[in-house]
Amino acid sequence: MFHWFRRTRVRLTLTYVLAFAVLAGLAGVGFWIAFAHFEYAAVDQGITAQGHTIFGGLNIGNGQVNFSGESPLPGETKHGIAITALLVGGAGTILDRSGNNSNMSVLVRATRKGVPHGVPFNLVVGHHTYRVLVLPVAGSGARLVLAQPIDDLEQTLLLAAILLVAIVATLIVANALLGYWVAGRALRPVRVMAATVRDISEHDLGRRLQIALPPGDELAELGSTFDAMLARLEAAFDALRRFTADAAHELRAPLTLMRSQLEVTLRRERTPDEYRDSHRVLLQEIDRLSRTAEQLLLLARADAGSLVTRKLAIDAGDFVEEVVGRWQLAAKQHGIQLLTDVRSEDTVQGDPDLLRRCLDNLMDNAVRHTPPGGQIIVLTSVEGPWWTLTVDDTGPGVDPAIRPRLFQRFIRADPARGPEGAGAGLGLSLCQAIAVAHGGGVTLGNSVRGARLVVRLPVGPGNAAA
Ligand SMILES: Nc1ncnc2c1ncn2[C@@H]1O[C@H](COP(=O)(O)OP(=O)(O)OP(=O)(O)O)[C@@H](O)[C@H]1O
Ligand SMILES: [Mg+2]
Repeated sequence: MFHWFRRTRVRLTLTYVLAFAVLAGLAGVGFWIAFAHFEYAAVDQGITAQGHTIFGGLNIGNGQVNFSGESPLPGETKHGIAITALLVGGAGTILDRSGNNSNMSVLVRATRKGVPHGVPFNLVVGHHTYRVLVLPVAGSGARLVLAQPIDDLEQTLLLAAILLVAIVATLIVANALLGYWVAGRALRPVRVMAATVRDISEHDLGRRLQIALPPGDELAELGSTFDAMLARLEAAFDALRRFTADAAHELRAPLTLMRSQLEVTLRRERTPDEYRDSHRVLLQEIDRLSRTAEQLLLLARADAGSLVTRKLAIDAGDFVEEVVGRWQLAAKQHGIQLLTDVRSEDTVQGDPDLLRRCLDNLMDNAVRHTPPGGQIIVLTSVEGPWWTLTVDDTGPGVDPAIRPRLFQRFIRADPARGPEGAGAGLGLSLCQAIAVAHGGGVTLGNSVRGARLVVRLPVGPGNAAA
């Protein structure tokens, strides 16, 4: 039962009906009070006018009072409204009266003392209600009592009250039904959205709610927010699917290669040299495999937001010299000149292992793409809040076809154009993920010849050169 009240539709209806009931109740009571007031005012006016008419015909002298007009006192107004009049002496004796009223003596007693003079009031005598006005007759101790039976008026007011209660109750019920219907209609898009969202699985993330509501409507906003979220989810799922497929392909290729290498080697007896050569090829493939696996693992950690687990203050100058220094030999073997122009005294906050990995990939790319006789120049600088590291080479530059997607995963130039032993196309995306996790980024710079890759990291606190 109580779960029913938790429904928004029911709560909306109840709130609306409650507010309506309070307003309708107040309006009904107000109307009834105004109606009773006007009805009583009409009676009071008639009774007072009759009092004044009779008063005008009284003779007062020597402590005596009598009515100059015909006796008995008039029993109705000139409009024909029955009003009993009583002229009561100081001792309570009835001096004159109009007609015969069985309640006369009770009226006399009831108006003896303690009742307001000159102000009409209600008096219940027996089963009848009277509107009574007592007017003192000055100089005689007598009083004029006027009583108009108002049973009809009371009846009318009771009927009016019952009618009003019935009308208000009917309106409340009608409003409750109307409110329930309106709330249901207003909330229908929410039901549609809930049903659609319930139906959407990871296989049909392309579906959209497409709620037909005018723009600016709150529920339309909710619908488009949902649609935008679905679009993001779809893009994320697509990326994940592509990533998984690419990763599987990338891991399968070296495994296939290793398998066929082993099959060929084992086909017949081999000399020790032949076995050594075969093992060397296998080792190369294993290296490639574990490098790719490690890169994938780091990218997965980057996606989970848990790539950088420690941040140390790194002396950027020493760090770059150390990393680049390790590439001197490889550069020399390729006939490439490796030059550095590194500032000292700069500090960056970060994980040295990850930053080394990023820088190693840039160096690996540069060495692999630069032809013998070429140059690689590494330089650092500080621009405002950024510490930047630029790796320039004199190779062919990045293939324009992949430039816009250079930092996406598994993006690499057509192997026919690339150098021998091309990688998985994960290096730059990992480098980017590492830089982003450190609050910076990697961009492809403009260069007249070759490629220029720029790593940007926030300068660390206590940076002397900043
Ligand atoms: N210095 C460069 N000169 C020319 N092209 C480059 C250079 N650096 C990167 N590229 C291009 O960008 C692509 C992506 O580079 P990335 O480092 O991400 O992957 P990869 O080097 O092919 O493989 P991995 O780094 O995973 O071993 C490369 O395949 C290459 O085509
Ligand atoms: Mg690379």
